Amino acid sequence: MENQKHNYDIFNLNYAAAIEVDPAVLAADEGEYDPSEYATSTETMPESIHEYLYENGRRYHTYFGVDKNCMPTDEMEQDRLDMHHEILLHLLDGRLHLAPIEEPHRILDIGTGTGIWAIDMADQYSTAEVIGTDLSPIQPAWTPPNCRFEIDDAEKEWTFKDNTFDFIHGRNLTQSINDWPTLMSQFYRCTKPGGWAEIAEIEGSVWSDDNTMGPAFKYWTELLNKALVIKGYQHVSRESLAKRLEDAGFVDVKVYAFKQPYGPWAKNKKEKRLGGEMLLIAGPSLESYGLALFTRVLGIDAEEATRLCRETWKEIINKKHHVYNNFYVAYGRKPEDSEVERTADAYL
Ligand SMILES: C[S@@+](CC[C@H](N)C(=O)[O-])C[C@H]1O[C@@H](n2cnc3c(N)ncnc32)[C@H](O)[C@@H]1O
Repeated sequence: MENQKHNYDIFNLNYAAAIEVDPAVLAADEGEYDPSEYATSTETMPESIHEYLYENGRRYHTYFGVDKNCMPTDEMEQDRLDMHHEILLHLLDGRLHLAPIEEPHRILDIGTGTGIWAIDMADQYSTAEVIGTDLSPIQPAWTPPNCRFEIDDAEKEWTFKDNTFDFIHGRNLTQSINDWPTLMSQFYRCTKPGGWAEIAEIEGSVWSDDNTMGPAFKYWTELLNKALVIKGYQHVSRESLAKRLEDAGFVDVKVYAFKQPYGPWAKNKKEKRLGGEMLLIAGPSLESYGLALFTRVLGIDAEEATRLCRETWKEIINKKHHVYNNFYVAYGRKPEDSEVERTADAYL
């Protein structure tokens, strides 16, 4: 009753009342709940941008369809994305991008997540307008004045006009995009002639140069790649990223590879620091990438999928295991109209 003196109770009049226990629960005086029975369905929810599915202890955004995004969007995921952004910044020695952009006026970030890259870009290029788009409304309301967000499915026809961005960027979208050729054709259409596109991805495979990868991490990766193939997601490699850009028409394509260690086992100071930072997100990452794909796509029992993620996590924190994967950054330039005309002339 003490709390009723304060303003915050005005917003929740039931706060002081005790929650009545369901007689059916009282009657079944023992036993455990089966969390999987409490997965919600979007069909029962009002039609709104805030449609969620609660599954295996995580929250998934479902406004664009239950299986559109198999990664959670809850607070744990948002923290993970922000922390991973910091790690990737350290990996790239503080650079937000590698494409040689100069004085950009308009920048677009596809699948922006929490928008942290777009916000940092808006700070770095304060005279540019930065737009981030995503399926999920998980971006902050407080942003630099030159940064804004739009909720949109990047796999649908973009509403942006042709030749209007100096730089278009997409990072860590492996589990987001089915049709890369169509997406990249939209990147190309909306990039200004002379402008740049950059795509960056963590690969799905993990490696150990001294053969110390444990069985759980190996199995976790095998399952992940199996599910990615079934879902129709494209394999990430140095070559595939370059090809995405080249096939769309971008030129001067370059790809860079960086190692992302799991755990501070590396001797090198920078890699040791990166590996240590990865410990902060590796546990949640295993679940974010794996849980929904393992259970929904491969039909693995939720308990078993969670157990595999935990076993893999135990290997990662075990000093005997020295595992890493690669992060690729690829960029290309949209040719000037005169270059395209010259190439066409050569074929006449
Ligand atoms: C792994 S997160 C990466 C977020 C951000 N790019 C980063 O690097 O921090 C993938 C993001 O893509 C979004 N996404 C998935 N499918 C999408 C689609 N079809 N269109 C737009 N965004 C999508 C998800 O909602 C999620 O925020």
